[in-house]
Amino acid sequence: MSLVTLREVLAQAQEGNYAVGAFNANNLEIVQAIMAAAESQNSPVIIQASQGAIKYAGLEHISAMVRAAAATVSVPVVLHLDHGTDFDQVMRCIHAGFTSVMIDASQYPLAENIARVKKVVEVAQAVGVSVEAELGRIGGTEDQVSVSEAEAFFTDPKEAVHFVEETGVDALAVSIGTAHGPYKGEPKLDLERLSKIKELCTLPIVLHGASGVPEDAIRAAIERGVCKINIDTELRQTFTARMRQVIAEKPAEIDPRKILGPAREALQQAVEAKMTLFGSKGQA
Ligand code: G3H
Ligand code: 13P
Ligand code: ZN
Repeated sequence: MSLVTLREVLAQAQEGNYAVGAFNANNLEIVQAIMAAAESQNSPVIIQASQGAIKYAGLEHISAMVRAAAATVSVPVVLHLDHGTDFDQVMRCIHAGFTSVMIDASQYPLAENIARVKKVVEVAQAVGVSVEAELGRIGGTEDQVSVSEAEAFFTDPKEAVHFVEETGVDALAVSIGTAHGPYKGEPKLDLERLSKIKELCTLPIVLHGASGVPEDAIRAAIERGVCKINIDTELRQTFTARMRQVIAEKPAEIDPRKILGPAREALQQAVEAKMTLFGSKGQA
């Protein structure tokens, strides 16, 4: 199937009260594992390219791999730019065939965030590409901030309404207590804040930094309107753990396929489990 937009996939997710996983891909095996999981689970899927992925694999390679893989499956696939930095990068992604982009201007003051997002929305939506933006700041677990400091960056529900009306974005990433990377303790989501945001804004809400978030919290977030869930760290952990295991068991192995193949299988299973948790299984 050819690629579809984020807007289409999330409209269905909202309708069906489930979330679609947005999985980060950096190489061929990861793309294949995610796609095989989507096909076996009959689930829509979002494959996203981070800044690191673009640097590592190159925009054209990522786009070509995802489009080739999507053509072999029957489920809807979205190719999405994760944490896009600026207008020029967004244009390069659209040119390379992405069907969805995130413009992350959350580090700027509200007015500038709005201005940067608005500029992207005008151009992207005109050519049928969906746009996700971020309000509030989702940091990394490596950022040395206390819980109260992190709360200062949580998304303000009233600001969210203003932001969405001004920009016209298709999906909004919110800061409600998650962070990128592995958590030290158990993350605590501000679900009341999420409900408030959802009460005031009707668009699809995105949860970043979902690796390591307890399953109950994920289910609660979906019930309260989250319908795109970003997962990267857990995929890396699964993939590299299996590689390490194979290398430890067969230290003389020199064929990369014998190491990457089992890692790809393990990753497929991990993605399948997420599709069950998110409720997207069977929804393609
Ligand atoms: O959003 C965060 C992703 O996990 C990106 O990580 O730029 O190192 O690929 P990366
Ligand atoms: P994790 O790496 O914490 O799963 O976060 C992924 C993410 O939010 C990508 O945008
Ligand atoms: Zn993120």
